[in-house]
Amino acid sequence: MTMQKYLPPTYSQKHWLWGNVHYLVKNPLQFLEKASIEKRNEGVCWISSPLVKLAMVTKPEFAKHIMQDNNKNYHKGKIFRFLKPVLGNGLLTSEDDFWRRQRRLAQPAFHKQRLAEMVQTMVACGEELANEWLSAYQSGDKVNITREMNKVALMVVSTALFKSDVKAEIAGINESMEFLLDKIIERIRHPFKLPLWVPSPENWKEKQAIRQLEQVIYRMIEKRRKSNTHEGDLLDMLMEVQDEDTGERMSDQQLRDEVMTIFLAGHETTAVAMAYVWLLLAENPEIDARLQGHLQEVLNGKLPAFEDLKKLNFLKNIIDETMRIYPPVYAVERYALADDEIGGFHIPKGTNVIISPYAIQRDATWWDEPLRFDPDRWNTEKVQNLPRYTYFPFGGGPRLCIGEQFAMYEMLIIIAILRQKFSFSKSPDYKLRLDPLVTLRAWDDIELVISPLAPEGGNK
Ligand code: HEM
Repeated sequence: MTMQKYLPPTYSQKHWLWGNVHYLVKNPLQFLEKASIEKRNEGVCWISSPLVKLAMVTKPEFAKHIMQDNNKNYHKGKIFRFLKPVLGNGLLTSEDDFWRRQRRLAQPAFHKQRLAEMVQTMVACGEELANEWLSAYQSGDKVNITREMNKVALMVVSTALFKSDVKAEIAGINESMEFLLDKIIERIRHPFKLPLWVPSPENWKEKQAIRQLEQVIYRMIEKRRKSNTHEGDLLDMLMEVQDEDTGERMSDQQLRDEVMTIFLAGHETTAVAMAYVWLLLAENPEIDARLQGHLQEVLNGKLPAFEDLKKLNFLKNIIDETMRIYPPVYAVERYALADDEIGGFHIPKGTNVIISPYAIQRDATWWDEPLRFDPDRWNTEKVQNLPRYTYFPFGGGPRLCIGEQFAMYEMLIIIAILRQKFSFSKSPDYKLRLDPLVTLRAWDDIELVISPLAPEGGNK
């Protein structure tokens, strides 16, 4: 078959020197949305840049082509190099056979039955936060929801990884993790910053934080190896798994990389999603009231148990609808290893291709009134029959998020526990501005006004 010679059409808004990429960097969300509307028919467009070959696909079938059907032709995009110093060769950053083996080893730790063991941990974290709020806040107080959701998501992922290890140690890890995440973001914002190998004082601090974190993780691994106890946490599971063919287990270095990866990939995303759930509930009091009734009906004031989770379907719709409008991972990037053809256009080897859940999940071709928060749309036949990759907040294909079910359980549990004890309304001076970095953060932390609810029927 002969390949089409033409590159995809270029989106019209163009800077004389920097091409389109200037607008992409300046306002990525607006760019992704506008370009996908303008090039809707083609479903793929070229983003001109003097520095890189860059394209974007906006048709679900093309997203499927890259992430699933022809995934062997693509590696993760270049942006992942910023994560390497911290994450090493973990699941998120590795490729090919090494990644395949790690994925096969890690997968059983995320199976439904194993996750059922995590539910108690998640419930305990939700309860701890609720108790903290009960003593910290009175009706009418403002709560920094962004910060609180980040705190609880970190608590969940750290206890899921290291169940019984001392809390003080976990606090140290969390602090270093937050510091390193900020550094990664700084590097993405300022790509010409001195690379980490240059011996500057700032880089020394960053390397020191990585080393400290590593030491704690290695210490925990060693302690677990010596003690021979079974905690039933993720670290245990990752240490136990054996390669079916070779019988090999993960080395300490691989465990370190996977633990770091799960820490990073597993908290910021979930925290961002939960913060938007609260914001949208505060903005939609009628839906919020229905959620309260739903929780009353399913849980009747109790803490959720594993069997309850599948009954929380209205809450699940609310979470799905939130991640449709505000997908925490608003875009993924892939790098073409060889020439490809998409929609009849030529995608040369070495092109970075952007695939944006944000743009596709807000596209009126698929979604009626896309900006309307309407959890009930998930019960309609239309939405249930949409093609794959019209909604894909967890990605797809072989690199699908390994933590999808974990995150879903966590969000159902934390929101169900907190919403039974508190309600929120909008703070009049808060206005959402999106800040798309690695995840779709809010520019200013989301602040809401809290009202503790009178207890009904206890919580035992
Ligand atoms: C709402 C929460 C979450 C969202 C929206 C999310 C989203 C994603 C997306 C879009 C990818 C694919 C990236 C790509 O294709 O380039 C991904 C990968 C990944 N996620 Fe998540 N994630 C969430 C929660 C979690 C949690 C809780 C964990 C772990 C406990 C986790 C661990 C991972 C890992 C390890 C990968 C790499 C998988 C691989 O390539 O084999 N994520 N996530």
